[in-house]
Amino acid sequence: MDFRGTHIISVKQFERNDVERVFEVADSMEPFAHRNQISKVLEGAILGNMFFEPSTRTRVSFGCAFNLLGGHVRETTDVETSSIVKGESLYDTARVISGYSDVIVMRHPQTGSVAEFSKASRVPVINGGDGANEHPSQALLDLYTIKKELDSNSRQIDGMSIAMVGDLKHGRTVHSLSQLLYLYDNIKFTLISPAELKMPGDIVGSLKNAGHTVTETADMESGLNDNDTIYLTRIQEERFNTKLEADIYRGRFRLNQAIYTRNCQPNTVIMHPLPRDSRVEANELDHDLNQHPNLAIFRQTDNGVLIRMALFALVLDVADKTARNSIEVEWYTEKRFN
Ligand code: NCD
Repeated sequence: MDFRGTHIISVKQFERNDVERVFEVADSMEPFAHRNQISKVLEGAILGNMFFEPSTRTRVSFGCAFNLLGGHVRETTDVETSSIVKGESLYDTARVISGYSDVIVMRHPQTGSVAEFSKASRVPVINGGDGANEHPSQALLDLYTIKKELDSNSRQIDGMSIAMVGDLKHGRTVHSLSQLLYLYDNIKFTLISPAELKMPGDIVGSLKNAGHTVTETADMESGLNDNDTIYLTRIQEERFNTKLEADIYRGRFRLNQAIYTRNCQPNTVIMHPLPRDSRVEANELDHDLNQHPNLAIFRQTDNGVLIRMALFALVLDVADKTARNSIEVEWYTEKRFN
C-alpha cells in the first residue's frame, strides 16, 4: 500500500509487506521514544485527536507519538462539550476539523463511523476504535509485541498458536488482531468465550478459509494448553444493553499465577490490550502475575508509541526523514538506554 495521505481505517487494508513496513519504521523510532534524540520532523504539524469514547492509553500514546516527532496535539475528548450534541453530522465535523489539522485520530462508539468521517476529511484519518468493529493501531502494536516476544525465544509468527479469551463478540482488539494474523501462515487459534460472546462468524470463517486452525470453546483451562500467546480481554460492558447483562459474564474467565502454572507452557506470553478490569468481581488478569517475566502488557503499551509514531511518519510521508535535524536529549532521564 502507498501509505502517503492514506486513511488507516481497517486492518483489511494491509498486506503482509505493509505490516512489515510499519514494524521496520517502528524500530527506527526507538531513539526518539527512548529519549536519546529529539526529532523535529513534524514541527508545525497539528494532530486532531478526537475521542468520543473513553480512552487513556490510545489517546495519550497517539498524542505522545505525535509530540515525539515534533508535532502539536489538539484534543477533543468529550461529546458533551463538542458540537455533536448540537446535532452536527460526522460530515461537517470532518470538514471543519480537517481544515484545522494535518492528520486526525478518531475514536467513536459506532461501527463504521470513522470510515464515514474519513470520506469527508481533507487529511488522513486513523481509526482509534469504531465501536465493536476495529482497532487497527492496537492490532499492529499487539502483533509487533508478539513478534518481539517470539523473536526472543527464536520463534516466529508463522505457525504460532494463540488463545484469545473473553468477550470476543464485542472486543474490537481481537477482531482486528485476528484479521491481521490472517495474513500469516498456519496460525492455531483457540477462541475461549461464553457461547453468547463468540468471535463473529465471518471472521472465524475467513480464518478457516485461509488455512488457519480455529477451535472455539467455553472451557478456559483446556483451551490454555499449548499456546505461544494468551490474549485476554475485558467484558465490554459498554456494548451491552445493561450493566446487569454484562455482569452475567464478568469474572467467568480469570487468569492468575496458579491457573497459568497449571495449564500454560513455561514460555507462554501473556497479553491484554488494557484496561484490565481489576474489580474483584471481574479481575480477568490477576495482579499476582505482575512480576511474571512473560507478562507483556506493559511492553505492549510501550510498543504502542513506536507503532503510532510509525503510522504518523508513513501517512505524512516523513518515515525516512525523522533523524534529519534531530538533536540530543539534554534532560536527566532513566528512560534512556541503548
Ligand atoms: C481497548 C479498546 O478500547 O478497544 N483498549 C485499548 O484501546 N487499549 C480494549 C478495552 O477497552 O477493553
